[in-house]
Amino acid sequence: MLFDTHAHLDDPALYPDIDNVLKRAKEAGVTLINSVGCDWRSSLLNVHLAEKHPEMIYASVGVHPSEVADIDEQVLAKLLELAKTPRVIGWGEIGLDYHYENTNKELQQKYLRLQISLAKEAGKPIIIHDRDSHQDVVDILQEEHAGINGGILHCFSGSWEMAKQCLKMGFFISFAGPLTYKNARVPVEVAGKVPLDMVLVETDSPYLTPHPFRGKTNEPARVIYTAEKLAQIRGMDYEEIAEITTANAKRIFRL
Ligand code: NI
Repeated sequence: MLFDTHAHLDDPALYPDIDNVLKRAKEAGVTLINSVGCDWRSSLLNVHLAEKHPEMIYASVGVHPSEVADIDEQVLAKLLELAKTPRVIGWGEIGLDYHYENTNKELQQKYLRLQISLAKEAGKPIIIHDRDSHQDVVDILQEEHAGINGGILHCFSGSWEMAKQCLKMGFFISFAGPLTYKNARVPVEVAGKVPLDMVLVETDSPYLTPHPFRGKTNEPARVIYTAEKLAQIRGMDYEEIAEITTANAKRIFRL
């Protein structure tokens, strides 16, 4: 049994084939999925999916840092109401993404702080996206006391030093497909050191497809490859890692 703690089932790469995507996940032993929103529309769609497949799917709602140019206070108010509905287990994904040139860092930071406060109001753990923005993410999480309802550093790409700061604030560390890549020196180091009760696995599907399927569309069934890699790094049985990461996911999402 495995919990894919971060997927985008609303994505056009997965949504039209959702029944088969879920069937393949089940066959692979992936029984629970957190389907994560990136804007208002995708948040709403993920909640609908979770309502339609309550045995398998939960939803998280929020606005991704790359989508903040399109939001306003009204959208945030609607998200807060949506976050209070029964199938929503987290607020995300939110964060900072400095990967592309000409990103409006101030606007991203403003909406990260605002959404942290809304997540607190909704009583939900937060799901953090951090791309090329490690120090600012840590600073804002600390300044906003963002760990109060717990949270997840999704597809963790920082150093062990950063991981330690996040763990101290109560954040879980989640690994995706990049853990399986040949050049994954730093993620492998972090995955070897993070306390076992604070580690999660995810796909971020349809993105970040694990080895040996790189280049193909990712889907929740493939979270097993990241879990296998984690088991190998920790020198443990796959079943043991599956059990531990599933229990961790249920704890952070209060299921
Ligand atoms: Ni994502």
